[in-house]
Amino acid sequence: MCLSGKTVVLCVTGGIAAYKAADLVSKLRHAGAAVRVLMTESATAFITPMTFETLSANRVVVDTFDRDFAWEVEHIALAKAADVFVIAPATANIIAKAAHGIADDMVSTTLLATRAPVVIAPAMNTGMYDNPATQRNLETLRARGFHIVDPAAGRLACGDDGRGKLADTAALLHGIEKALTPQDLQGRRVLVTAGPTQEALDPVRYLSNHSSGKQGYALAARAAMRGAEVTLVSGPTALDTPAGVTLVRVVSAREMYDAVLARAVGQDFIIKAAAVGDYRPAHMAEEKMKKGADELTVELTRNPDILAALGSCKRPGQLLCGFAMETQNLLENASGKLQRKHCDMLVANSLRDEGAGFQTDTNRAVLLFADGRVEYPPLMRKEALADLIFDRLLALAAE
Ligand code: CTP
Repeated sequence: MCLSGKTVVLCVTGGIAAYKAADLVSKLRHAGAAVRVLMTESATAFITPMTFETLSANRVVVDTFDRDFAWEVEHIALAKAADVFVIAPATANIIAKAAHGIADDMVSTTLLATRAPVVIAPAMNTGMYDNPATQRNLETLRARGFHIVDPAAGRLACGDDGRGKLADTAALLHGIEKALTPQDLQGRRVLVTAGPTQEALDPVRYLSNHSSGKQGYALAARAAMRGAEVTLVSGPTALDTPAGVTLVRVVSAREMYDAVLARAVGQDFIIKAAAVGDYRPAHMAEEKMKKGADELTVELTRNPDILAALGSCKRPGQLLCGFAMETQNLLENASGKLQRKHCDMLVANSLRDEGAGFQTDTNRAVLLFADGRVEYPPLMRKEALADLIFDRLLALAAE
C-alpha cells in the first residue's frame, strides 16, 4: 500500500464526527504511515488530544492562537513534513476558509503553507452542507485540485436525515491513498472482468472453477486508484467491491458476454481476467435432479468466447488484454490465444507455479505482446501485477 513510509498531517476540526478521526489515525498507522495530528480548539471539545497522541504516538498540536516563535516554526515544519494533508472531519467553516485563503488559526495557516496534496472530508448538518455557499466553496477547492471525499447520507447526530455524515474510514483511506497516487489513468475508461462463471445444471447445482476473482478485483481497484473510470463485470466472488468502481454482477458466461459486449464501446482498455466457463449444461433441469441407479451423463454445449468476440470488433485505439491460465506449454498456448483472439497483450500464468494461481494473493505471470515481445516479471502481489499491466497498456497506448 502506498501509505507505507508516508507522513500524513491530519487536521481535526470541530464537529461530532471528530471521534471518528481516531479510527482513521489507527488505520493509517497500521498501513505504515506516520501521522501528525493538528486540532482546532473546538475539536478538543469533542475528543481529547490525548486520544490522538496515544494513537499517533506523536504530540498533538492544538490551536492556541499563541503567536509565539515556536508556533510559527511548528506550523511551517508540519506543512513541509506532509506527504499528504488531510482535514477530517472538515467543518463548513474550515472549507470556507480554505476556499478563500483565510489563515487565522493553526489549521488554516498550515493548510495555506503546505504544498502537499490536500484531502478534505466534509462532515456537517445537511442544511449547512447543501447550502450553496458550502457547495460553491467545495467546487472552488475541487477546481484547485483538492481531493474531496464526499460525505455519506444517513441519519445525522442532529437528528436530520440527509447528506453530511463523515465518509467511513475505508473511503477516507481510499481518498488519501488516491491523493498520493499519480492519476495517470485519468480520463481513461477501463472495463475489467473477474471471477468465475457458474453454469447451472439444475436449481441447486452448477459447473464452475476455482477462480477467486482476486486478480481481476486488484486490476479494477488499481485502475480506479490511478484515476480511471472503471467498470468491473464480475462472476460470483466473496470479495468486497473496490472503492470507486462500478460493479456489474453476473452469474453465467452468457450473462457475462451480454454485460461486456453491451459496455465495450467507448472503453479504452478491456482486461479479461475472468475465468469464463467454456461449456454449460446443454439443458438446465427445471427441478432438482434426482439420483438414479445408473451413471449420469451430462451433455455440455459451448459458451460464446467473450474475448474472441471483443477481438473481432475492436474499436480503433481500444486495447484488449487477455489472460490465460495454463497447466502445460505456457508460452505456446498463450501466444496462440493472443493471436486467435486479437489481443494486444496477454497475461499468462501457470497453475503449476508456486505463488501463482486462483486463490493466492501473489501471481507469477508472463506478459506476451502482439508484436512478439515477451516479458517475465518476478513473483509479485496481484496489486503490483495489476499496476504493471496498466503501465504496459499505457505504453502501448502511447505508441
Ligand atoms: N475467455 C472468454 N470467454 C470464454 C473463454 C475464455 O472471454 N468463453 C477469455 C478469458 O477471460 C481469458 C482468455 O479468454 O482472458 C483465455 O481463457 P482460457 O480459459 O485460458 O482460454 P480458452 O480460450 O478457453 O482456452 P482453453 O480453455 O482451451 O485453454
